[in-house]
Amino acid sequence: MQFERLQVEQDGPVARVWLNRPELRNAFDGLMVTELRKAIFELARRDDVRVIVLGGRGSAFCAGADLTWMKAMAGFTRDENLREAQSMADLFYTVYESPRPIVARVHGAALGGGAGLVAACDIPVAALGTRFGFTEVRLGLIPAVISPYVIRKIGESAARELFLTGERFEAVRAAEMGLVRAAVPEEDLDVTVEGRVRELLAAGPRAVAEAKTLISEVAFRRVEDVQRYTVERIADLRTTPEGQEGMRAFLEKRKPSWLS
Ligand code: COA
Repeated sequence: MQFERLQVEQDGPVARVWLNRPELRNAFDGLMVTELRKAIFELARRDDVRVIVLGGRGSAFCAGADLTWMKAMAGFTRDENLREAQSMADLFYTVYESPRPIVARVHGAALGGGAGLVAACDIPVAALGTRFGFTEVRLGLIPAVISPYVIRKIGESAARELFLTGERFEAVRAAEMGLVRAAVPEEDLDVTVEGRVRELLAAGPRAVAEAKTLISEVAFRRVEDVQRYTVERIADLRTTPEGQEGMRAFLEKRKPSWLS
């Protein structure tokens, strides 16, 4: 896969996607949005890819939307503005609903849409010292298309504080509020990411995708409203070849086929 704003590497079952615009701290413009969406969409549907790792080249994970690009939108029609905003929303949704799990490798800074990307990933891990922030209000904007993913991760209380102040905060606080799963010294970042990848590779590929859908369907709903759905999912999944293989491997004291 060849891109102008990304580097994509494949390492066995692991695809690594690097935001690659380091001179602008990986701020994303329309081209990066389109490329990242295409890369994640396609990798997430390949049988030979089991896990995706998303990181940033240079000194920061991602400084959010390219403000030169956003500012230029004043010269666009409302329809053009809606199309560009929709394309950004599509990117975050593509990351969020990716059937392959996405581990974010976060360092340096994750601001605005960059923090939104972190929120849309499944397992973000950050280096200590990373600066986070939903800085949009400080620019006279709002964290609109990222808000569903962020509020799901950090809750309304933290969102009220951080969306309204636009203040910056560091990795330990990001971990405490659930925006990232761990905050580790920068020298331990790669080994921590690889640990998450290893755990994900131990899981059945279809089961991982189904577990992601399960979370989206069940979160924030009444138990009574989701019970039928959960009953149907386990009834279906335990009869699939993957479910049968996983249980058989356990009972036969061997590794399941997806680990060999
Ligand atoms: N959009 C456009 N350009 C950006 C950018 C963004 N979101 N973030 C950084 N840049 C540019 C800077 O203007 C600078 O350009 P220059 O070299 O032409 O002056 C270059 O990237 C490097 O940025 P700089 O601030 O010098 O780097 P730094 O390492 O000291 O700080 C950040 C990095 C990310 C902490 C800082 O750039 C920053 O706070 N960016 C704004 C992030 C933000 O609020 N994003 C929300 C967007 S909704």
